[in-house]
Amino acid sequence: MGNRPALATFTADSEIEQTYRRRTPNVAEIFERAKRSLPGGSTRAFGYFRPYPLTFERGAGPYLWDLDGNRYVDFTYNGLSLIHGHAFPPVEEALREALPNATAWPGTSLPQIRFAEALCERIPSADRVRFTNTGTEAGMLAVKLARHATGRPLMVKSWGAYHGSYDDLEAGLYGNGEMPGRTVLGRFGDIDSYREVFARHRGEIAGVIIEPILFTFEVVPPPPGFLPELAALARAEGAVVILDDCLMFRLALGGSAEKFGIEPDLTCLGKFIGGGLPVGVVAGREELLAVLDPDNPEGLYHGGSFNGNPLGATAGRVTLEHLGAGEIAAMDRRAERLKGALERKAAAVGIPLEVTGDGSILGSYVVGAGGSPDRELGARFHLASINHGVYFGQDGEFALATTLDDEALERAVNGLEAALDDLAAEPGQSAGLGS
Ligand SMILES: Cc1ncc(COP(=O)(O)O)c(C=O)c1O
Repeated sequence: MGNRPALATFTADSEIEQTYRRRTPNVAEIFERAKRSLPGGSTRAFGYFRPYPLTFERGAGPYLWDLDGNRYVDFTYNGLSLIHGHAFPPVEEALREALPNATAWPGTSLPQIRFAEALCERIPSADRVRFTNTGTEAGMLAVKLARHATGRPLMVKSWGAYHGSYDDLEAGLYGNGEMPGRTVLGRFGDIDSYREVFARHRGEIAGVIIEPILFTFEVVPPPPGFLPELAALARAEGAVVILDDCLMFRLALGGSAEKFGIEPDLTCLGKFIGGGLPVGVVAGREELLAVLDPDNPEGLYHGGSFNGNPLGATAGRVTLEHLGAGEIAAMDRRAERLKGALERKAAAVGIPLEVTGDGSILGSYVVGAGGSPDRELGARFHLASINHGVYFGQDGEFALATTLDDEALERAVNGLEAALDDLAAEPGQSAGLGS
């Protein structure tokens, strides 16, 4: 239990890999040093790939620079946690102002209240919010609230949905199945599989947690109507509806609830909601969050030394203030342009690339034999793109930021087109390239 998917292996004779090694000698050297103090030279799973991952030293707007001075158009934004790109000036300025007042205070603070008010105003289903420090913690708290409110033990989630590094929400990932007594699984997009789960566990299900678009490992948008149907089913069965909007709050002013027409009981936020600092949020109906009132004798104890700290609360509020409908629409338009460019070029060079997504996120896969993603070729495309100055997620994930302007986009399109040329020129190692 708990293994991540197998990493693609490269053959040393890959020209793409050799180019990568030639361009990144300092990165290679620092990785050897990192391995002596960090397991596998890393401190998280995301961002790791073979033959060795990049080490960055600077970011600005849509760009990152590695230790060898190579510049990249970034499409990861630290796992979608920087909606305005790197070192966003309004956030930097607000933090510079806040910093002399110290970084963490006990008790409630004005930065916290202002941020909480902004969130409640923006999210129709949020009467109250509770701060945590990460999306994982937000998920843990939401599960705790659902179990407490219903007195039931089971959570329902989708196979393949990622909700952070919390055991109960790792069912259906890394080779894990259901976790008896804790978590049961439905198939994303298949409402009947959920009906069957609810029927099998009638009266035992505390809540359903929904990743509205599967993103990590593979990008899968929901079929039309699926999310509202799932929310209605859960509600009819007396279960709490939890929307994990850590990634997809970017899709509309009111997040994916607005985009897909659902009204969750609880919404988990994380990632960009902290403006580049670690912040998580559980937002929701007053009666569900009232158990966190310290004056409530029936309440739940919920601590967190850094919950709502003044820096995260300030960076988060300023970030939200700069994310309006115009910015969201502009990101969506540029994502559309990127998708079209990838599809056209892949078709021109004969690579079976599939591009999925919605709004400002995309997933790209080289399709292998049997129609499933060819991880080996996907890894080569990823590395070839890095060689041409474009950095996206190692499983083919792309996300845009508001500061990714037309110049950065054109730079990225040129880089990705050159990467597809390189991929087409590699000796065909798999059914995917048809040679
Ligand atoms: C949908 C979703 N929920 C929760 C999390 C966990 O957030 P964090 O990494 O801040 O713990 C992630 C992280 O990628 C995520 O993608």
